[in-house]
Amino acid sequence: MIRIRSLTKQYGSNAVLRGIDLDVAAGEFLVVLGPSGAGKSTLLRCINGLVAPTSGELVAAGYDATDARKVRQLRRNVAMIFQHHNVVPRLSVLKNVLTGRLGQVSSLASILQLFSRQDVALTMDCLRRVELDHKAHERTDALSGGQRQRVGIARALAQRPQVILADEPVASLDPKTSRLVLQYLRAACRELGITVVCNLHQVDYAREFGDRIVGLAGGKLVLDGRGDELRDSHLNLIYAGLDQVQHAAPAAARQPAPELSAQGAL
Ligand SMILES: Nc1ncnc2c1ncn2[C@@H]1O[C@H](COP(=O)(O)OP(=O)(O)O)[C@@H](O)[C@H]1O
Ligand SMILES: [Mg+2]
Repeated sequence: MIRIRSLTKQYGSNAVLRGIDLDVAAGEFLVVLGPSGAGKSTLLRCINGLVAPTSGELVAAGYDATDARKVRQLRRNVAMIFQHHNVVPRLSVLKNVLTGRLGQVSSLASILQLFSRQDVALTMDCLRRVELDHKAHERTDALSGGQRQRVGIARALAQRPQVILADEPVASLDPKTSRLVLQYLRAACRELGITVVCNLHQVDYAREFGDRIVGLAGGKLVLDGRGDELRDSHLNLIYAGLDQVQHAAPAAARQPAPELSAQGAL
């Protein structure tokens, strides 16, 4: 579903992504773990065509994410959820989720905000998946932070995407609400067969929710394996070992601990 080869992104002299190779299978729930500044958001933005990579190949949902002409089609199939649940506060919950349909309806219909009964029915289905259908007609600013993030998930689902990219979707929520939000996201994606790439900095949630975890440090993937096999020693690769990783040669960065292989074995 996502294929990344030798991806680099440089901002001036700051090499943020330094050669990423990654394949994400259809239906996989992949967590990208890494400290602040590791390049997690940059990676997601590259996948969504929001950031143009410096070099490398990137195909998501069948579209070349490095081709600016394909960006509209790409984004129709690759939805994004942000940390600050960027829903429109004064709109109703229903309207916020309906905006997820905007990429799918004709431009005239979208200017006039004409949505078909099917669009409304699909929107209500998405709201049911996050258990907010009873709030459909309330203003979104009347909801709690966790509920707003669920609206953000419903809006992404309403797009009927093949891929959802979630950039620290629970960073501003309390632990209980965070788990609930991630549970809704995982359940909806499982049921609808959507591939998820979710940036997190909380290790516990990564373990609990990730089918697979990759660790990003110093602009490189330093580990890759199953979520339930993540050990504390592996975390040093991402967190404590950050300094060495940043200064290591590429091969060394991929083999920092003997029991780890670069791909598939946490
Ligand atoms: N638009 C930008 N212009 C310049 N530097 C940027 C830009 N976006 C991100 N960076 C830099 O890239 C690095 C990685 O940022 P980011 O991808 O946001 O990391 P993370 O999401 O893991 O915290 C940081 O050093 C940040 O300052
Ligand atoms: Mg970030």
